[in-house]
Amino acid sequence: MRSSCVVLAALVALAAYYIYIPLPSSASDPWKLMLLDAAIRSIVQVSDLIHYLGLSHPLLAMNFIFVSLGKKSAWSARVKVTDTDFDGVEVRVFEGPPKPEEPLKRSVVFVHGGGWALASAKIEFYNELCMEMAEELNAVIVSVDYRLVPKVHFPEQIHDVVRATKYFLQPEVLQKYSVDPDRIGISGDSAGGNLAAVLCQQFSQDVNLKKKLKVQALIYPVLQALDFNTPSYQQNANIPILSRHFMIKLWVAYFKGNEDFVQEMVVNNHTSLDEKEATALRARLTWTSLLPASITKNYKPVVQTTGNARILQEIPQLLDVRSSPLIADQEVLKHLPKTYILTCEHDVLRDDGIMYAKRLESADVEVTHDHFEDGFHGCLLFTKWPANFAVAIQTRNSYFKWLDRNL
Ligand SMILES: *[C@@H]1O[C@H](CO)[C@@H](O)[C@H](O)[C@H]1NC(C)=O
Repeated sequence: MRSSCVVLAALVALAAYYIYIPLPSSASDPWKLMLLDAAIRSIVQVSDLIHYLGLSHPLLAMNFIFVSLGKKSAWSARVKVTDTDFDGVEVRVFEGPPKPEEPLKRSVVFVHGGGWALASAKIEFYNELCMEMAEELNAVIVSVDYRLVPKVHFPEQIHDVVRATKYFLQPEVLQKYSVDPDRIGISGDSAGGNLAAVLCQQFSQDVNLKKKLKVQALIYPVLQALDFNTPSYQQNANIPILSRHFMIKLWVAYFKGNEDFVQEMVVNNHTSLDEKEATALRARLTWTSLLPASITKNYKPVVQTTGNARILQEIPQLLDVRSSPLIADQEVLKHLPKTYILTCEHDVLRDDGIMYAKRLESADVEVTHDHFEDGFHGCLLFTKWPANFAVAIQTRNSYFKWLDRNL
């Protein structure tokens, strides 16, 4: 009896040790966030173990676990759901209920997040989000199931999203779904926000496209790979659910690069001063002037005099505007449509979003920037028990409200 008590106490202590991480008290439901983080950490560790045993690519294993946990599907009698393909790219189409006074519907092409490697339009989180969006906005939502790492790498994910969207924009396809060609937007969260932003830049430059997108809505988007020491990267390096280390690992995997570079990229050794092209591009994200003092606080830029030249030699894609839309020319930004950007305080990507909002404003684009002081990366997805957070409902409401007013 006594020994089992000791074992139990030891197990409880061990579990508490595993689960506990220091979190800022301003985060939404910090205890729940700790549990969510522990759950995700254990999935990552199991995936690493599967990889170690030589059974699978770690990202494939992780995605398999995520997808199997999220199979159960939300369902609404008012939304018609169809799985099909647009020019060979898998999509899930959600057709919301029509409004009596409007024969044609609005539409959003939605690009899910997951570091270009994880999740799908079909998992519960995204299925439920798009279902709700279709119902609330009386809209047609096209959720794109682009191919993922390690099956394909940069820039294939972009090609898939572009191909599916171009197919959808054809008059006969829009007609089939009763969509108003003048009221179509692009949106995405996290890495999906990255793909959405890149697509939007390409479409606004494309002279062959007759119809332009009306809006873009970017939810805590990933927008640059040049500086992993913005104030938000420094402040939130170890905040769930996205650590700086894991974000850089996802970037390197997207480019099929050497994972040994991750540690060096943490200190910006890929964009040191002796890299002339990188230094010129980093000037476009000079956060000491782009960000307000309330954000920069006492954080100092991390600029190495010399770094490791091999990183850019092997992964030149790190400086490609198709991976880092934040470094686009002012000339390109100028032509972008009305934009919504949502950022969260407790997120390494916070400053990517804030800087993009600032650069777009300087290029005379109409921008709405919504910032959530208690938000964390990914929070918009967590509306359902047991992983339900107050900030999930708040972020989702603002996002839908903006779309409703502007699309
Ligand atoms: C970054 O590069 C410098 C110069 O090559 C090197 O001394 C340093 O060890 C590198 N940092 C890391 C974390 O590898």
